[in-house]
Amino acid sequence: MTIYMNLQLTKESKKKSEKNNSDHFLNDVLTGLQSNPKHLSSKYFYDKTGDELFQKIMAMPEYYLTRCELDIFKNKTADIAKEIRADQQPFDLIELGAGDAMKSTYLLKHLNEKGTDFTYMPIDISGNILSVLENNLKKQLPEINITTLEGEYFQMLKKAMKMSSRRKVILFLGGNIGNMTGKDAEKFCAGLHQLLNKEDIVLIGFDLKKNPFTVLNAYSDKSGITEAFNLNLLSRINRELGGDFNVEQFEHYESYDPITGACRSFLVSLTDQKVKIAGETITFTENEVIDMEVSQKFSKFDIKHLAEKSGFSIAGEISDSKDWFVDSIWMVK
Ligand code: TRP
Repeated sequence: MTIYMNLQLTKESKKKSEKNNSDHFLNDVLTGLQSNPKHLSSKYFYDKTGDELFQKIMAMPEYYLTRCELDIFKNKTADIAKEIRADQQPFDLIELGAGDAMKSTYLLKHLNEKGTDFTYMPIDISGNILSVLENNLKKQLPEINITTLEGEYFQMLKKAMKMSSRRKVILFLGGNIGNMTGKDAEKFCAGLHQLLNKEDIVLIGFDLKKNPFTVLNAYSDKSGITEAFNLNLLSRINRELGGDFNVEQFEHYESYDPITGACRSFLVSLTDQKVKIAGETITFTENEVIDMEVSQKFSKFDIKHLAEKSGFSIAGEISDSKDWFVDSIWMVK
């Protein structure tokens, strides 16, 4: 009886949170498309199809980012363990936007082999990818403690801070920080600093400025996977919010500015058109764009500036063999 009631409750609260999530989604989509210039939040890229397309992006020859950071996690695992002081007090290893945790699994294995006392807490907006991750880890590394947290980074991080008083090591990989505008990245780092305590450590991945063709090609592959990935957000709006986008009337456009380091994804409307979403009509003129995402590239100086501005100091830096990507280790000042 008790078990039955708990089940009912869980179902109810799950329904409520799904309803809440879709309210947020609708609200964000309408606000974004009613702004000038129009924009959509890239955090909504990752539904089931989006997750699959992103897996394909990561496997593309042009998309060097994953391979670079994988090189670090595969070949410099001991350096990472040393930098996060894995041999000192037990800790919670919290990964923001864990995805399938392909890279961090190397670190988890290493820590497990060394008998390190830690709990792995992956946070992701996609409940789908979290359950895939949890199942895989339970098979591959049954010994490690894992607590998955589905939701927004800071909300879940606050929850994690309340769950235990152990020191925290935060992983923020994949150049995710680059998906924020400069101001938002500063706010994010300052917010992180506020939540953390003195002995906590942050490891953030930064994609470095490099040959502009290399960057641009990573975000505009010839096979059209990146385009499909961007267009999927319009299809998702159709599926989940009852929109009527004609996806074929939009095209993906990418730009990279080697001076500012901003690589930007847009969808271009190929014609004058009207789109209906939940009773609202959105008007597009021919060639009008939707700003989809920025993927910021950094110099080592940019990274130092961001760290110091938000109250951290850089304790270490681990680069891949090409020096295209860096995992920067920050301490709370
Ligand atoms: N956010 C990731 C990045 O900036 C994923 C990504 C790859 C992406 N290609 C994209 C996001 C194209 C938007 C558009 O690297």
